[in-house]
Amino acid sequence: MDKPLIPQNLMDYIDSLVPSRPPEMQAMETEAEWTNFPIIGPTSGYLCYQVARMISAKRVFELGSGFGYSTAWFARAVTENGGGEVYHVVWDEDLSRQAHAHLSALGYGDIIHYHVGEAVQTLRDASGLFDLIFNDIDKEDYPNSLPVIAEKLRPGGVLIVDNMLWHNRIFDGKDHTPATDGIRRLTGLLTNNPDWVTSLIPVRDGVMLAYKV
Ligand SMILES: C[S@@+](CC[C@H](N)C(=O)[O-])C[C@H]1O[C@@H](n2cnc3c(N)ncnc32)[C@H](O)[C@@H]1O
Repeated sequence: MDKPLIPQNLMDYIDSLVPSRPPEMQAMETEAEWTNFPIIGPTSGYLCYQVARMISAKRVFELGSGFGYSTAWFARAVTENGGGEVYHVVWDEDLSRQAHAHLSALGYGDIIHYHVGEAVQTLRDASGLFDLIFNDIDKEDYPNSLPVIAEKLRPGGVLIVDNMLWHNRIFDGKDHTPATDGIRRLTGLLTNNPDWVTSLIPVRDGVMLAYKV
């Protein structure tokens, strides 16, 4: 599955429509490129920001946050929505520290809750309902995260899940690794379920948007 699903010129065009980011976010993009760290990237990040603005999200929970790049998009949306809170959750202490530095430099320090630990358990333990939940944890754990997400998302809230095309591996019938099968299972759980209205947006590595009825 070497051939990209979306022609490069189309992806380049879509990428070119994303407005420029502040220098700190550009530095995060460069850092991800140099270190090969899998951030959501500008186009999917801007889509997340747009959805969070559209539903006036004030409480956002991220599962699998990395060094804070996707968090920065949600923090920007929540700030522009009038304020609220964004949960940054990752099990690596060093990434959490890096995120803290980046997000403080961007001026979002006050609205972020930092948690070092397993993301699904942290969501289970969190109080209240969320307007938007973003899932970017290890892909084999996607199916088991759904019941907790469904419980913690408000009716009318949105779940966003990254990597739902998984670099085209989902189309390889011989690939039954736990990650690839985890993505296929979550896709089935969300698309064959009257509790969710779900679309797969084929930008970058596939972003799934699921509206909780
Ligand atoms: C794909 S990266 C996050 C990228 C980030 N969302 C972004 O776009 O900037 C996922 C991160 O979450 C961590 N992770 C994966 N599964 C996790 C889990 N169940 N609980 C906590 N952290 C997890 C990984 O180690 C990795 O650092």
